[in-house]
Amino acid sequence: MAAPPGLRQSGTTLTLERVSSPSFPAIRMRRTRAAPWSRALHAETRLAPTDLIWPLFVREGSGLEGEPIPTLPGVSRWSVQGIAERAQEAAALGIPCVALFPNTPRELRSPDGAEALDADNLVCRAIRAAKDAAPQVGVLTDVALDPYTSHGHDGVIDARGRVLNDETCERLVAQALNQAAAGCDVVAPSDMMDGRIGLIRAALESEGHQDVQIMAYAAKYASAFYGPFRDAVGASGVLKGDKRGYQMDPANAREALREVALDVAEGADSVMVKPGLPYLDVVARVRDRFDLPVFAYAVSGEYAMIEAAAAADMGDRDALVLETLLAFKRAGATGVLTYHAAHAARLLG
Ligand code: PBG
Repeated sequence: MAAPPGLRQSGTTLTLERVSSPSFPAIRMRRTRAAPWSRALHAETRLAPTDLIWPLFVREGSGLEGEPIPTLPGVSRWSVQGIAERAQEAAALGIPCVALFPNTPRELRSPDGAEALDADNLVCRAIRAAKDAAPQVGVLTDVALDPYTSHGHDGVIDARGRVLNDETCERLVAQALNQAAAGCDVVAPSDMMDGRIGLIRAALESEGHQDVQIMAYAAKYASAFYGPFRDAVGASGVLKGDKRGYQMDPANAREALREVALDVAEGADSVMVKPGLPYLDVVARVRDRFDLPVFAYAVSGEYAMIEAAAAADMGDRDALVLETLLAFKRAGATGVLTYHAAHAARLLG
């Protein structure tokens, strides 16, 4: 039997013939990969602490001790005083921005989420503390009613439990103004109501907050990856039903481009895709189509997956963290919201 093409037979041994093709051996892809200096020089994508936004949970009470969140091992809820310390830590690590999420005490939650409009609520106090402690660090706050409603939805509901769009938008506008008055730098509407970006932009302009940015959660999917976050803000126990009536269907990507186009037209300064890793195709398509900054949120369930793998000895935590964050950059993200921000910044530092 003749040896297959490219192989030479002698006795029972087959050896590779020295073949050449139009590309090989002239082109050897491994040349530029061979040495660390060369890999460093040829990297198309780089990750730095300045790519990161650090989400932080705020609790009532005093003390600098973090309150652990069982489903988010390594992440804690901090007192207002603790948030000030975290903001300083962000500054020291070169992280440009923190995102604040309150765990509102049960007794302050109501059907209409009125606590969101209180000028002295938990998140407003945390904004002031963070800006006092580290004025150079950006403070981003979520605009949505779920940490404040007794039913756990992002808006107000009717008798049948449907989230009412226009009534909710009115409250979101007031919530955004409340956060802006407390001194936040970026409001990030995460509620997925229609028309809210334009309404919030107009209100910020007319109330003297023209420099407050809007980062629109433009393509936010109804995802199973938000579970630990809902534990962290105390919404899991209270949420009735699901959010599929307003958050996007994971089946859809073209619809995400329509969502982004609308938020751009309404005045968003930047847009976000969320969750992150399972939706990198959406990040890449948004990056291709639009010229404004696009952020991705590596959500709580994504964080939990890496931590669970590392805890079970099924992966190298540091390597998983850095590789996933780099993947966001490769897909075209301007930056990433990640609970691993401080850890990653330390690794990169
Ligand atoms: C609130 C909000 C959610 C997240 C960010 N803002 C939860 C939700 O929509 O139910 C999820 C973040 C995460 O899982 O890390 N609207």
